[in-house]
Amino acid sequence: MTAFHKHLKSNAKGELEFEGIAVTDLAMQYGSPLFVLSENTIRENYRRIHRAFADVYPAEVIVCAGMKGNWGLAARRVIVDEGGGGDAFGLGELTVAMLAGSDPRKIVMNGANKSRETIEAAIDMGVLNQVDNADELALVGEVAAAMGKTARISLRIRLPLKSLAEVNYVDARYPEGISPSYWERTFKFGLAPDAYLAAVRIAQGMAGVSLEGCHYHGGIPRRAGFYREETEELVEILGEVKAATGWSPEYLNIGGGFVSERYGAEAPPPVEEYGRVIGRAIVDTCAKHGMKVPALMLEPGRYCWESAGIWVAQVNAKKADPTLANKTWVYVDGNTNEMRDPFDPRCSVHHVVIANDVDREGSEVVDVCGGTCNAGDILAKARELPPMQIGDTLAFLDMGAYNESFACQSNVIPRSATVMVSNGRSTVVRRRETVADVLSREAVPTWLMAR
Ligand SMILES: Cc1ncc(COP(=O)(O)O)c(C=O)c1O
Repeated sequence: MTAFHKHLKSNAKGELEFEGIAVTDLAMQYGSPLFVLSENTIRENYRRIHRAFADVYPAEVIVCAGMKGNWGLAARRVIVDEGGGGDAFGLGELTVAMLAGSDPRKIVMNGANKSRETIEAAIDMGVLNQVDNADELALVGEVAAAMGKTARISLRIRLPLKSLAEVNYVDARYPEGISPSYWERTFKFGLAPDAYLAAVRIAQGMAGVSLEGCHYHGGIPRRAGFYREETEELVEILGEVKAATGWSPEYLNIGGGFVSERYGAEAPPPVEEYGRVIGRAIVDTCAKHGMKVPALMLEPGRYCWESAGIWVAQVNAKKADPTLANKTWVYVDGNTNEMRDPFDPRCSVHHVVIANDVDREGSEVVDVCGGTCNAGDILAKARELPPMQIGDTLAFLDMGAYNESFACQSNVIPRSATVMVSNGRSTVVRRRETVADVLSREAVPTWLMAR
């Protein structure tokens, strides 16, 4: 038996099973290509990251699972059922969060240029609006006054990360390397510390605005392994803000970016290590500045979703060219319209398993290609895989984050259905698109029809 994780393993017939159901049966029943999401993997990922922080942190820990990575209603219901919260980027994701029955106190709303309508919705729903800039702060005050309500807000900060200026971090997105400090300083979100202090002073004087939190998201710095350094600097700056204004946050949101094995470090720290190091950095630095330890919010996206999803496609054709190209192409019925993780330019990094014959022997080097017109539509490039045949069912692993949520419809190709599996049961949680769906927004001007 080959086991990829607790809920994804081969059975006695050598077929891949997800939560006890053969992936080939899912493809037969629901068609392919197909996204498959495991309810229990989402639950366990959520519980593990919550516990990693809650077990060591002396105040409340709220895990706001990043909806940008997977905004599906069913996925959100699982998190709500676990008592979790959500990071909603804008009005659409906020709507999903509310439709799924989220506790508004555990929902934060992100965005650097929110519309008036979005700000109104956040105020109506009582969620924490993570304000990005001074213009937005003024707009929030104006909208709250017009509504006669109080807006709960947090202010988003960007750090100088001076201690990391000389570090050169290399990953697939930055093969030449990048300084985490430069990345953070030039990130499009949030306020620099001086602007942050000014915004705190303004917010303190605003009627109808309740300043409750501080928001920071460490992308590259956290991925590069500097989570202690960034946390210490963050809380140091908050100590200075407290000294200048008397204000300190009730909620400290440290964002997402907890590394998974496919990204960054070859051996990423276990999430418990993040919990220990970050928790200690907050507690110690708060003590140094005489600050109350705030409730902690996290926004893990990839960590919650990635391993919970696979994507299934079937082999349609195979072409070997031993002369001109000296290579072999395997063509599947899916394509990279659905392998769109924007944070991973390599795309074809997903582990590929022959779901109908997990332990097939032998190997050949192939490009697994999709069916779009894009020459770069390669789902696995120059990959050594067991020899594949027409009709084989392939499972691409770790596809649960960012791929479906960023999928597109190039070449008018309808997007896949999504099925949720749970303890031997399965059901469609997002129906397959049709060509009519893709065309549903099209119109022809009357003057062209007349000709
Ligand atoms: C503000 C914020 N929070 C959370 C996340 C989720 O990050 P990840 O999926 O790497 O955990 C992102 C991703 O870009 C983000 O920008």
